[in-house]
Amino acid sequence: KHVAVLMGGWSPEREVSLWSGEACARAAESVGYRVTRVDVGRDIAQVLGALKPDVALNVLHGRPGEDGTIQGILEVLRIPYTHSGVLASALAMDKAQAKIILAAHGIAVPEGRLVTREEAARAHVLPRPYVLKPNTGGSSVGVFIVREDQEHPPQELNRVDWGFGEALIAERYIPGLELTCAVMGDKALGVIEIQSDLKFYDYEAKYAPGGSRHILPAQILPIIYQKAQMLAVEAHRALGCRGISRSDFRYDDRTGDESGLVCLEVNTQPGMTETSLVPELAAHAGHSFGELVRWMVEDASL
Ligand code: DAL
Ligand code: MG
Repeated sequence: KHVAVLMGGWSPEREVSLWSGEACARAAESVGYRVTRVDVGRDIAQVLGALKPDVALNVLHGRPGEDGTIQGILEVLRIPYTHSGVLASALAMDKAQAKIILAAHGIAVPEGRLVTREEAARAHVLPRPYVLKPNTGGSSVGVFIVREDQEHPPQELNRVDWGFGEALIAERYIPGLELTCAVMGDKALGVIEIQSDLKFYDYEAKYAPGGSRHILPAQILPIIYQKAQMLAVEAHRALGCRGISRSDFRYDDRTGDESGLVCLEVNTQPGMTETSLVPELAAHAGHSFGELVRWMVEDASL
């Protein structure tokens, strides 16, 4: 099969996508596919129309590419592609919309609301501590945790070169553990606990060597572990995801039971770099990076 690996693009996660894309391209080659690396630009429809790959391995993060737009082009061109379709991708990219759907399916999400950048910069929009994040962002870019003793809202929000959109979600900060669980097909993989030495699991912690520690399997009660797996599958289904997704959770361990588990978001195109969570979860389940990529390519559809 001829596989086009779509990577790069022009979102704030461009760099991460290039790392993910290169890792996937090498893995695809190692299991025998013919691979073309495509750094996605605004002429992507023409490029793919001329290339006519058998499958698009979509390793874009953020917008465009994780949000249903490129998926729409692939639908029109009739090129089977990996990961979620148009609607699930668009829903999951919009955190506020995704939360409405998850909540409607009985999945706990953090309390919060949509605010404009201007509102969030002017005054505290929630009782402290709270979290501010771009409504359609990823990789923690543009995310702030506003602590109890922080007098003013983050001043970075006033920057003229703020590149993360005008819509932010403000959410109650949930103390405790950061957990993540991936779904492959219709099955949950393991649950990782992420411990960050830095302030939180931010961009640097995610991609700098040694920036964070992954504990797999997470050292939590079996009942919480299983609940996270169950919720990851439910969230994947609720949004209509396909292929691989990864759901991120906070677990307020002061509760001591399942009530402390809250779903932060569903990533329809989770990171695929060498240090990313999904390849690690797949390896734990016995699938090498090459096998994981082969599974993704063979699972691709329209
Ligand atoms: N948005 C990054 C790539 C992730 O979800 O892993
Ligand atoms: Mg994300």
